[in-house]
Amino acid sequence: MTEQPHVDEFTGVQTTGHEWDGIRELDNPLPRWWQWILWATVVWSVGYWFVYPAWPLISSHTKGFIGYSSRGELRDDVAAAKARQAGHLAKLAKASLEQIRTDPELLEFALAGGRSAYNVNCSQCHGSGAQGFAGYPNLNDDEWLWGGRLEDIHQTIMHGVRNEDSEDARVFAMPAFLKDEILDANQVEEVATYVLHLSKQQGDSAASARGKALFLEHCVACHGDRGQGNAEFGAPSLNNDIWLYGGEKAEIVATIANSRGGVMPAWGRILDAVTIKKLAIYVHSLGGGS
Ligand code: HEC
Ligand code: HEC
Repeated sequence: MTEQPHVDEFTGVQTTGHEWDGIRELDNPLPRWWQWILWATVVWSVGYWFVYPAWPLISSHTKGFIGYSSRGELRDDVAAAKARQAGHLAKLAKASLEQIRTDPELLEFALAGGRSAYNVNCSQCHGSGAQGFAGYPNLNDDEWLWGGRLEDIHQTIMHGVRNEDSEDARVFAMPAFLKDEILDANQVEEVATYVLHLSKQQGDSAASARGKALFLEHCVACHGDRGQGNAEFGAPSLNNDIWLYGGEKAEIVATIANSRGGVMPAWGRILDAVTIKKLAIYVHSLGGGS
């Protein structure tokens, strides 16, 4: 049995033949543009199957004509980046610290590498912003225990301080004036009072005057006659507000009585030569390099 197609009386268009509560749907053909797009996408996807990896197989997948894979792309990118780096690394290995510092391209490369090596190896002790902690020097200021020129910094990092790792480590240590019975407790108090006066630039008291005499006798060889410090001995300046172990009287007394003897590893035993160069450049750039 065939039904007569129903034609809508207002538009003259055939309907789909269904009726819902007297409402009928016109059976208009799909627009041409829509059909073209549909077929174009079908053709595109078939082309895609052949060109790119597409269909899963049991243990692998179809590879496509051009053999593309996102892993391969990553591998190529990494290889290209390595090749670019290798050029820079080879240059860094050959260049002197001064040459690196004055070549903008090498400098940028060294700083980036130095920053990341710093974060991994140094921030535990010197702080993530190189601000330092008590006993661990701030590397941002221009107060240097062992010198702030590029070569000094390089040497300190390479061989470290008071360690057993390297024969060229920085070794000078301050005597423990009380423990080693060079001064008695009273004298330590007096010389500490003088150190306070040196740093705070206050006038002399009687104790400080006696302390000054002791200072001239026992301390100037390392700390200088005005307490300006001496990088040759790792002796900090005592005439300013920057303190490695604290500038309160009690802290100064403790330093003089027992000394401190901070230790830093010789990084030359741990890191490669190019990384040490990058670190020296980076630390020098932090603001206080001389
Ligand atoms: C285990 C803790 C420790 C780590 C890690 C460490 N340092 Fe040090 N560093 C010290 C101590 C302690 C001193 C001060 C030694 C002293 O009293 O003379 C120091 C001193 C220095 C100095 C000399 C500062 C000055 O004023 O002359 C430099 C430069 C330095 N460190 C750089 C680095 C770099 C770069 C790294 C990472 C590769 C690093 N340090 C990692 C403990 C550490
Ligand atoms: C042999 C060299 C030497 C002599 C002598 C010496 N010092 Fe030091 N002094 C150092 C060194 C090195 C340091 C760094 C701290 C450490 O590692 O012990 C230091 C640190 C200090 C500090 C701590 C500074 C800070 O920033 O926290 C004070 C204070 C100080 N000395 C006072 C004195 C006084 C006072 C005398 C004389 C009684 C004296 N020193 C004699 C080498 C010396």
